[in-house]
Amino acid sequence: MNKVLDPQGVRPEGLNDRENWEGPASDGHVFRAGELDLSHKVILYLDDISVSFDGFKALNKLNLAIDAGELRCIIGPNGAGKTTMMDVITGKTRPDEGKCFFGQTIDLTRMTEPEIAHAGIGRKFQKPTIFEHHTAFENLELAMKMDKRVWKSLFAALSDDEYDRVSDVLRQIRLDHEAERPAGLLSHGQKQWLEIGMLLMQEPRLLLLDEPVAGMTDDETERTAELFVSLAGKHSLVVVEHDMSFVEALGGLVTVLHEGSVLAEGDLATVQNDQRVIEVYLGR
Ligand SMILES: Nc1ncnc2c1ncn2[C@@H]1O[C@H](COP(=O)(O)OP(=O)(O)OP(=O)(O)O)[C@@H](O)[C@H]1O
Ligand SMILES: [Mg+2]
Repeated sequence: MNKVLDPQGVRPEGLNDRENWEGPASDGHVFRAGELDLSHKVILYLDDISVSFDGFKALNKLNLAIDAGELRCIIGPNGAGKTTMMDVITGKTRPDEGKCFFGQTIDLTRMTEPEIAHAGIGRKFQKPTIFEHHTAFENLELAMKMDKRVWKSLFAALSDDEYDRVSDVLRQIRLDHEAERPAGLLSHGQKQWLEIGMLLMQEPRLLLLDEPVAGMTDDETERTAELFVSLAGKHSLVVVEHDMSFVEALGGLVTVLHEGSVLAEGDLATVQNDQRVIEVYLGR
């Protein structure tokens, strides 16, 4: 069962206008949503990140740099630390050591999960959290209205611009022909796209996607690759996947994680021919 959110239960915490939105981090440091500093092209920078669970090192001095607009794939065996890495970036897990920066100046290790989301990092979980009883269109509309930077009443009519934004995203996620269909009746793949659309309504700079094509048909997987390629440039994407034909279709740089650190990095052909990668992952 997909999780069904109750729109009645959604309570906005603030009425900040979009341009001037700002919020204090947990330690009082104030950041602005618009202040992302990309002067060195890097949008995400992990420096010697370590995370231990009861003495077991899930991440072990992990280093990673993602350029603005990049579409990066992260691969590696089960337990390599891929999901834990996303947990650190989104503030769900605090690293024991190391730095994690969004742009040049935003220190993610000092921010809470909602603060990180509002700073422009969107994360897609495996189970879509969509409103099953609402149409595809309404789901995107709700996602836009729940965005605290633009919060307005759930009952307020959409402006022409807002209507166009929802329609554009519906087209992007290939649901323009299903706009009026209750989300609960969409296929598994379409629900995944709808959730990606809900993330897009919040205009994230960086999207984190953990095994986005798991359970999709071959056709849906192909269409998802096209969608991600079309999103790169305007957005930066970090995609964790085990499906190598999907990784190939994305065409970006590939980072191989193993035992919590980077084993290899390069285009897919290069890492596929790397003897160490074959031994720990691809050769299995
Ligand atoms: N909350 C936790 N408590 C204890 N151990 C954890 C926790 N989260 C992850 N681990 C352990 O850390 C290691 C890395 O897990 P992680 O989920 O990051 O791997 P992964 O690369 O995402 O694997 P998969 O490909 O199977 O999704 C695993 O050994 C896992 O059991
Ligand atoms: Mg995982």
